[in-house]
Amino acid sequence: MLDTAPFSTLIRSATEQQHAEAEHSTFMSDLLQGKLGVEAFYRYTSQLWFVYDALEKHSAALASDPIAGPFVKPELNRLAALEIDLAHLGGAKWRDELVALPSTAAYAARIDECARTWPAGYVVHHYTRYLGDLSGGQVIRGTAEKLWDLPKKGDGVRFYVFGDISNPAAFKREYRENLDALPIAGPEVEPVLDEARLAFSMNTDVFRELGAEFSARN
Ligand code: HEM
Repeated sequence: MLDTAPFSTLIRSATEQQHAEAEHSTFMSDLLQGKLGVEAFYRYTSQLWFVYDALEKHSAALASDPIAGPFVKPELNRLAALEIDLAHLGGAKWRDELVALPSTAAYAARIDECARTWPAGYVVHHYTRYLGDLSGGQVIRGTAEKLWDLPKKGDGVRFYVFGDISNPAAFKREYRENLDALPIAGPEVEPVLDEARLAFSMNTDVFRELGAEFSARN
């Protein structure tokens, strides 16, 4: 595709196939078909904690960055919601049980590195997670509520509830406009799209490791 297409189109096309792979990964499919127990959902949620910690701990530093700044919005923040979910799913010991899988640690380290050294790379990781959460995340929430009898939009699935975003469709539209306004052109485009491909494959790596951990037990 020509790099004259809007950036939001470029990044979506660049990751389309990997999106399908992530969505249909064995772990995600098994989880959403009810083949794994709630402890797999708990373990998956605990991995997200490391990802969002990495994404959100740099918010203050990046808020004034000309590239990343427009994307840093408090209404997206997920870490506090994840902690409520983990306390609900894991009980009082959730913090002691919070251990990153090797693939999760690598993913969080990459986000951290981008946040510190490459704002456009950070934006890519931000897009991969938050725009996904606002879209397919809603499918996961509905299924999780039914499968494990979790309170609707309550503790256990608060990660998927963006209470401060009243109109997700409008929010996503504006988000894509911000992507299209990024001053990324010419030879800068491909490395950024490569980072998006990496972001998706790092998510798939986490699913693969979770799949290895849970298919054996269930
Ligand atoms: C069961 C798993 C998943 C389901 C059911 C799902 C479903 C969806 C759906 C329905 C959309 C909306 C597409 C549209 O706007 O037309 C979407 C968008 C998106 N998803 Fe997923 N998804 C899943 C997993 C993932 C994963 C693992 C990631 C990456 C970490 C991800 C990242 C994204 C992104 C970034 C978008 C926005 C695409 C764009 O419009 O630019 N999704 N997803």
